[in-house]
Amino acid sequence: MVHLIDHPLIQAELTGLRCRNCPGPEFRQRLRRIASLMVPAVTADLTTRIVACDTPLEVTSGVQMARRVILTPILRAGLGFLDGFFDLLPDAAVAHIGLARNEETLLPEPYYIKTPPTLAECEVILLDPMLATGGSAVEAVRRLVDLGATHLRLACLVAAPEGIATFEAAWPEVPVFTTAIDRCLNDRGYILPGLGDAGDRLFGTA
Ligand code: PRP
Ligand code: URA
Repeated sequence: MVHLIDHPLIQAELTGLRCRNCPGPEFRQRLRRIASLMVPAVTADLTTRIVACDTPLEVTSGVQMARRVILTPILRAGLGFLDGFFDLLPDAAVAHIGLARNEETLLPEPYYIKTPPTLAECEVILLDPMLATGGSAVEAVRRLVDLGATHLRLACLVAAPEGIATFEAAWPEVPVFTTAIDRCLNDRGYILPGLGDAGDRLFGTA
């Protein structure tokens, strides 16, 4: 269930953002634009319900989203996607999940979680630009499912084949949307060619 979003505008933004000399403000702007451009593909199969619509001339029928969307960034890098998703989904609620990957074990270490109380009835869109080993995304879904989430999907920017395989094995029913599937991981668990450390580049912490 991996959907590669191969739109030329997205691919051109992604190329600019990957470059080592792309400065922080440009990196953030490009990531935000990519996020907005991803939204139609990520939400294309969301369920709607038919509602009456009272135009100035007559009553007609239209649609509303059947379930509220909860945007769920994995801290920190997932925050780089948030405003771009909000641009097209302004009524969404937000859940935050703090996970830091241990640089030696490469395992995710949870440090924060705050979700709206209505997870079960909502469409949860997990946001994380990087799917490397897959450990963080697998853990995030596990925590959300434990809290009652039933409708989940994952949006990422760059995915490694290793991370896709791990995620699909753990959560085969959760669709993954990504703008790139890169070659592999290096021996430190970084994606090649990748873009380096997304959180550090977003927040200037390198
Ligand atoms: C990065 C990235 C993902 C995770 C991916 O976050 O944003 O959450 O690594 O790696 P994985 O697939 O191997 O788990 P990191 O833990 O470095 O935290 P940060 O966003 O705060 O920099
Ligand atoms: N996290 C990142 O930010 N980049 C990678 O390449 C792997 C994990």
